[in-house]
Parts: sequence; C-alpha cells; structure tokens
Amino acid sequence: MVAVSSHPLSVPPEARSIEPVSGTLEDGASVQRDDVVVGAAAGLAAVVERIEQVAPTDAPVLLEGETGSGKELLARLIHARSQRAEGPMIRVNCGAIPAELIDSELFGHERGSFTGATGTRQGWFERADGGTLFLDEVAELPLAAQVRLLRVLQEGTFTRVGGTKDLRVSVRVVTATHRDLRAMCEEGTFRSDLWYRIGVFTVRIPPLRDRPEDVAPLATHFAHKSGIALTGVPLVPTPSELETLRGYSWPGNVRELAAVVERAAILGGGRRLEIAAALGDARPRSSPPPAAPLSSQPAVAAPAGRLATLDDAMRAHIARALVLARGRIEGRGGAADLLGVNPHTLRGKMRRLRIDWSVYRT
Ligand SMILES: Nc1ncnc2c1ncn2[C@@H]1O[C@H](COP(=O)(O)OP(=O)(O)OP(=O)(O)O)[C@@H](O)[C@H]1O
Ligand SMILES: [Mg+2]
Repeated sequence: MVAVSSHPLSVPPEARSIEPVSGTLEDGASVQRDDVVVGAAAGLAAVVERIEQVAPTDAPVLLEGETGSGKELLARLIHARSQRAEGPMIRVNCGAIPAELIDSELFGHERGSFTGATGTRQGWFERADGGTLFLDEVAELPLAAQVRLLRVLQEGTFTRVGGTKDLRVSVRVVTATHRDLRAMCEEGTFRSDLWYRIGVFTVRIPPLRDRPEDVAPLATHFAHKSGIALTGVPLVPTPSELETLRGYSWPGNVRELAAVVERAAILGGGRRLEIAAALGDARPRSSPPPAAPLSSQPAVAAPAGRLATLDDAMRAHIARALVLARGRIEGRGGAADLLGVNPHTLRGKMRRLRIDWSVYRT
C-alpha cells in the first residue's frame, strides 16, 4: 500500500507510517519502494481528496503537474487505492519509445509482423490486464498512436501488430503530463477527442512553490531517509535550515528538494545537514541562465510574506562561492576573490556561520 503521511513537524519521523511496498514497474522487475505521500493533509489535501474519490472507480485519470511534483507517486496511490491494487501496475514512459515501436510496445506484435519480430510479444495493455496502465508523458505520443489509444479506450479492444484477432483486456488507464494539453489540442499536436477521454477526471498537482507548508515536512522526511541510508541514524533539520529551504522557489519541485537534502546529508558526512552548501549547488550547470545578472540575484529567495535571515542568505551565498571555487579560499578565483573580500575576513565569517570549507574541496 502507499502510505499517506500528513504529520505536522512536531511528530517525530519514526512515528510516521513508512511502509515499503512492492510494485511491478515498466520492465516487469519487482521493486521495493517506500511510497509515502507527505503533505496529504496540508498542501496536497485537495489533490489526495480527489484521488480518494476517483481511485475506487475505473475512470481514467489524468495527472497534470510540473516536473518532479509527484505525478508518478500519485499514480501509484491511485492504483493502491483501487480495486485493482492486487493486480499489476505498469508504467510506460511514452516519451522514451521510438515512434516506430510504439504500437508494438503498447499492443504487442505477432511473430514475423516486421523485421526483427522473431516471436510473438505481448504489449503493455495485455501485461496490465487486471491492473493499471500508467501512461507517463502521454503528450509525447505521436498522433498516429493517439488514434489507436483512443480506440482502445473507447472500445476496450485492440489487435497486436500483424494480428487480426481482436483482444479485450481489463485495464484502468492513468495518464500524466507536464504539458498543457489544452494548448496542444489548439495547435493540433494532441487530439482533442483523446484529451476528453483521458481527462474524464483530471487532477492538477500544484508546484511546490505554491504549497510552502509542505517544504518542512518533506525535508524532514528526506533527511530522515538520508540519515538512515548513510549512517543508520535519522537526520533532523534544524528550524533555521527548514527556514532556508522554505525560502527557495524549487523549480524542480519535490525531486529537487529530495536531491538537495540528500546532497546536504552527504556533504555533512551523514552526521549533519549542510543545507547551505547543497543549495548553493542546487542548479544544474545546463539550466538556463537566470533572468537577472547573478550579482543581483538573491542568494536565498524571500519566502512569501517574510525574508530569509541575513545569516542564511550569507551562508548560501558563501556556499555558492565555495562551490565555484571548489573549496579554495585564497588566490585568484578563490572564494574570497569571487566575493570581493579579504580571505581573513571570509574565514572569520565562515567560522561564525559554521561553514566547513573542506566539504567543498573537489
Ligand atoms: N508528496 C510527496 N511525498 C513524498 N515524496 C514525494 C512527494 N512528491 C514527490 N515525491 C518524491 O519526489 C520524487 C519525484 O516525484 P515523481 O517521480 O512522482 O514526480 P513526477 O511528477 O512524476 O516528475 P517527472 O515529471 O519529472 O516525471 C520521487 O522520488 C517521489 O517519491
Ligand atoms: Mg514522472
């Protein structure tokens, strides 16, 4: 089962119900996952309520949300709360299948139906029989495949590639996308009849920046997990660390928060969280440049209605310089040089802010 956790911060992480679940994914491999929906009674309350309503029905569900916002996790919650929970849950990433193989992947093929089809293969619809088929990144399906998907959804039947027999399966379809399907329908890249069909019940997952109340419980959850994984002892973020995390805008949503906390735990040797350092290195190098020049970017964004403390902002900014300087303080291109201060002054500030330069040395 997928556990739903909504505990306020005061509840120690050990008191949460973190239940490992077995599931069958895409490639048929059996995996252990600890699916816990944090924020189910807070920022995700409306979302979880809608999911609880629709899960026991067999209606198709469309999950919309930005990257890393929890679409796959919530798809698993739908399956776990459905009458098909004992059946398979198959995830197919529609964006990862080459266009010419999509039909064969989804519907299977008969032996000899095309070069390389040396045997008969069941498609994902057949394998998901009795369970849930999660079509992730559904907006990436080419138009031709969209037509065939619509037919299965409407008629409940399909044929394997190269086959003639109509096959009928019992599959509940859950789809997800980070794209705007309405806009795609308007520009003709997504079929509106398919959109109506998969979107019978649409659940929109709000981005993390619109539910700042979830940041602290999520960070606490990930810190707990990282500590256990690294040293066997759960890590607990301090109130000031949580405040720093709340002040960030999380363009990569929950996935990015999880990565920052995990990195903070590694940088702290599994004994403490180096949040400022981990945040300083939060943006991947390939991300688009910020709109404003770096010098005018705040090191820590202001959370709604209040400012990050000056110390937190300074800590994050120094951490960024240390990341860029690979832990070097003195000399040209060193952190002091980048920040325009005397190395002696920088060392003093770092001591006061308890920043350990050695973790940045690469
Ligand atoms: N509310 C939550 N509680 C606990 N963990 C969460 C929550 N939301 C997301 N996560 C975790 O964050 C990570 C990203 O979530 P998920 O894969 O479901 O996002 P996604 O919307 O499918 O992202 P993408 O669009 O990039 O595929 C996963 O490890 C997931 O378990
Ligand atoms: Mg996903």
